[in-house]
Amino acid sequence: MKKILLIHGPNLNLLGKRDKNHYGDLTLKNIEDLVTGEATKYEIEIETFQSNHEGTLIDWIQQHSEKANGIIINPGALTHYSYALHDALFDTELPCVEVHLSDVENREEWRKISVTAPACIAKISGKKELGYIEGLKLLIKA
Ligand code: DQA
Repeated sequence: MKKILLIHGPNLNLLGKRDKNHYGDLTLKNIEDLVTGEATKYEIEIETFQSNHEGTLIDWIQQHSEKANGIIINPGALTHYSYALHDALFDTELPCVEVHLSDVENREEWRKISVTAPACIAKISGKKELGYIEGLKLLIKA
């Protein structure tokens, strides 16, 4: 495992300002720095990307997955309906881990559904930023 893509979907650029009960206090930059710092211990490079647009995320995944060994993704609300993002992740043939800051299993009914998780080796939710570190460790073992 040499390079991992850390991808965030819609509205996650506003972390730090969004509902702190669900998403915690950290900004997106804080989370990216946390994961990058942890990955450095394992000599893994982290490449980060965030977009509010489904197609932009898919284009970026297609352009960057060939040189990567795994993906950590928080797809935001796209989790619940983007079959296109599911297919983009599946088509990379890379081990992917889906991470949610909030406990999506215990919120609105529609948040319990993930159409992207079947393209992933694991789905981690409700552990705030620690979910990303758990995801990183799962990928290292994958
Ligand atoms: C989220 C959960 C989603 O339901 C929501 O739309 C988000 C963030 C999370 O990290 O808990 O934007 O993916």
